[in-house]
Amino acid sequence: MLDIPAIHVNRLTKSFCRDKKALNDVSLSIADGEMVALIGASGSGKSTLLRHIDGLVQGNKGSADQRLCCIDVLGRPVQSCGKIRRDVRRTRADIGFIFQQFNLVGRLSVLTNVCMGFLGRIPAWRGAGALFTRDEKLQAMEALARVGIADLAGQRASTLSGGQQQRAAIARTLVQRAKIILADEPIASLDPASSTRVMETLAEINRADGITVVVSLHQVDYATRYCPRTIAMRNGEIAFDGSSERLSHDFLVKLYGSDSEELIMGHKLHPKAADQTAIVQELLKHEALSHAAV
Ligand SMILES: Nc1ncnc2c1ncn2[C@@H]1O[C@H](COP(=O)(O)OP(=O)(O)OP(=O)(O)O)[C@@H](O)[C@H]1O
Ligand SMILES: [Mg+2]
Repeated sequence: MLDIPAIHVNRLTKSFCRDKKALNDVSLSIADGEMVALIGASGSGKSTLLRHIDGLVQGNKGSADQRLCCIDVLGRPVQSCGKIRRDVRRTRADIGFIFQQFNLVGRLSVLTNVCMGFLGRIPAWRGAGALFTRDEKLQAMEALARVGIADLAGQRASTLSGGQQQRAAIARTLVQRAKIILADEPIASLDPASSTRVMETLAEINRADGITVVVSLHQVDYATRYCPRTIAMRNGEIAFDGSSERLSHDFLVKLYGSDSEELIMGHKLHPKAADQTAIVQELLKHEALSHAAV
């Protein structure tokens, strides 16, 4: 266990346009080894917050009194005063990012997708050519076995079910040796059985390896079941940060009013179909950017 927080966000504000703040003066600290749920209605700022922590988006510069606006991960600055640090790739190599659907490259095998977790630690030419060593493939197989889908290693990723794809994405973070997993709605498109398996896999990794997990969710019951702590967002602000046990039906209604139904029922429409170009772009943005100089 580290004494320094795994994630520290201080006074983060983000406006994509002039008159609306996607994040408004958000501060939080997550200790090493915690498993934390991030909940909130659609548009409340969950993805935006996770992307700031990963250094994919930079916050507002901040006014004079917000000079301390910064994000640190594992004690290293990711960004401060609206500027992403030049050496962010090294920090990002410690972060595994799991997206709701933009996760795997469908035309590649599951094994190759998992081997992509090595990108930050191998020469670029090997990564670009998907030239992985026998030892690396063995490690990827071990990770697949750990998440329970070793038998699917040779299949094209596009043939996997949504839940299997998410577990392959988790295996990739294991191969990456990520110390922190940021999972943005990993179960939003899954049926209850697959959702349970994915959440159990994340919880097992958190418990056994001490990996810090922050998972955004639309379903509050999964937050209470798997995450001791919940951070609840509302209109870009933190409306609640505390024990998930406090998330009773009445509490949620008080917190979210009419929006609470979306969270209690876990209903959310995701119209975007996964398109391959977007998948590759999202992946490369995270993985290739995290390619530490080797
Ligand atoms: N790239 C962008 N350009 C402009 N506005 C954006 C951008 N990304 C997010 N926003 C806005 O920021 C706000 C927060 O969006 P965000 O995607 O973080 O919400 P969310 O809580 O993840 O929602 P959902 O549950 O639907 O995924 C929304 O009003 C959204 O429209
Ligand atoms: Mg989102």
